[in-house]
Amino acid sequence: MQTIKKLIAEKLKEGILSLGAPEAPEVADLSTMLEYPPDENMGDLALPCFKLSRTLRRAPVQIAAALADCLGDTVCVEKAEAVNGYLNITVSKEYLISNVLSGILAAGEKYGSSEVGRGKTVVLDYSSPNVAKPFHIGHLGTTVIGHALKKLHEFHGYECVGINYLGDWGTQFGKLIVAYKRWGNKEMIEQGGIDKLVELYVKINNAISGNAEQGIEADPALGDAARAEFKKLEDGDEENLALWRWFIDISLAEYEKTYKQLGITFDSYKGESFYTDKMPAEVAKLRDKGLLKIDDGASIVDLEPYGMPPCLILKRDGSTLYPTRDIAAAVYRKNTYDFDKAIYVTSAGQSLHFAQWFKVVELMGYDWHEKLVHVPYGTVSINGAKLATRTGNVVLLKDLFRAAIEEVSAIMTEKNPDIENKAEIAEAVGVGAIVFYYLSNSRIKDINFVMEDALNFDGNTGPYVQYTYARTCSVLRRAEGEGDSAPLAITAPDEAALLKVLAKFPERVSAAIADYEPSVITRYILDVSAAFNRFYHNCQILNATDPAVRATRVELTRATNVVLGNAFPLICLKKMEKI
Ligand code: ARG
Repeated sequence: MQTIKKLIAEKLKEGILSLGAPEAPEVADLSTMLEYPPDENMGDLALPCFKLSRTLRRAPVQIAAALADCLGDTVCVEKAEAVNGYLNITVSKEYLISNVLSGILAAGEKYGSSEVGRGKTVVLDYSSPNVAKPFHIGHLGTTVIGHALKKLHEFHGYECVGINYLGDWGTQFGKLIVAYKRWGNKEMIEQGGIDKLVELYVKINNAISGNAEQGIEADPALGDAARAEFKKLEDGDEENLALWRWFIDISLAEYEKTYKQLGITFDSYKGESFYTDKMPAEVAKLRDKGLLKIDDGASIVDLEPYGMPPCLILKRDGSTLYPTRDIAAAVYRKNTYDFDKAIYVTSAGQSLHFAQWFKVVELMGYDWHEKLVHVPYGTVSINGAKLATRTGNVVLLKDLFRAAIEEVSAIMTEKNPDIENKAEIAEAVGVGAIVFYYLSNSRIKDINFVMEDALNFDGNTGPYVQYTYARTCSVLRRAEGEGDSAPLAITAPDEAALLKVLAKFPERVSAAIADYEPSVITRYILDVSAAFNRFYHNCQILNATDPAVRATRVELTRATNVVLGNAFPLICLKKMEKI
């Protein structure tokens, strides 16, 4: 539709000028002024003429009528009508076939992509779990939104760097080392992996702070021991360094399994520890610029003039903090990648943190501060229960995936027991169901996870759209090898409706990028699936007797296959030819 809108906008501009306006809006602006009417009887596109009425000094009704006349001979327009100050436009079916359909098929894998990002680099910081703490469903958001944003930017030609900023440094390692030395041993961790680490972590937290429910009394001495072990680690103690590396390796191996299920890879795993020696230079810069204030012994940047609490840079004991590290990491990334945009995907709970240190970077005089973008998302709960982190009362991402895969396996055993690669398909459908369900919501909304809804093959779900894609594959397999030289033509309303939805893909990709909103793609995939299934049920494809009708329908199926095939990877959804 982007091309169609542009063609129409060019004509409209001519029309506006011929009405005697000294100047007309730009083609690009006129293009965005074209709306999709709520009801198909109003045409496919509509231009509200109210805004134009001031510059043109005429009533909207008159403008709409005059512009309708001037669109009369535009190739892509079948009908242009003035209705109550709106110009309603119906797109020509011939044009849809000769340009849109053939355009989709010719572009293939490239359909929907663009080159606007060519030569520019986008750095994306996402997933970034905290080692030794559970990788739970609260991390689903950053992981899949982050990866979707990476895929979307790549689709627009940007060079993308996906960074997993592992939480691999901090006092939690002191705690873990104490817990390991007290209650753990090598075999136990080798066998139990990350689950054992998390168990130890939960146990030491309970021991330090106490847990009334479990009748555990607080033991502050353990907290001191943990701080001492962390200090030793910071000072380069060999034994602690070795333990630390080992804990990270074990955790990473586990995360990799989850990433593999999602089809996610990272370009960099430089975690928090990497920036330890890069912070002093930034602290010095803050000091030189006179930005640091001492407050109760701690060093802060006062952000009161900007309506925010102070940004903490150094604790009283001189140790650094979360913002300090983020500032040093941003400087490093700017120097390393010379990014045009640096995107950070985290829960909305961290919005203040990002606003604060972005401001500090600005005050430090880094002119690239405007290129920093925080993309927040809402909280996730499961059937209503909020997820706690420290107490061990959490739902792990891998368990959620496992549960979904098991359920899909059971459904498949019932519906399609003889299918090949059953395990692989069950994994793609199970994991896809969760991802799709999650990404169907606007990212900022809090969501409550209901497994049955996510897995419903008949609802607006991952399995449903994956099934639709497999259906297009099946039609195409059966149509294979047949001549399709018959001239194509639209003969049924459901064909035109489908093609119009397919025509919207490029602008949906642009909108998803502009708003950092993968749900635009998820919803679009549902629109395509609905339009295709309606077409599939109402129009005979392979059994159509007229060769031109049959050929048109096969090509429409092929175009649907192209669009879904291009859209799925943008939201971490795997495509399967058979389900
Ligand atoms: N590790 C952090 C957490 O789990 C997220 C890190 C986000 N990225 C950043 N550059 N601060 O809360």
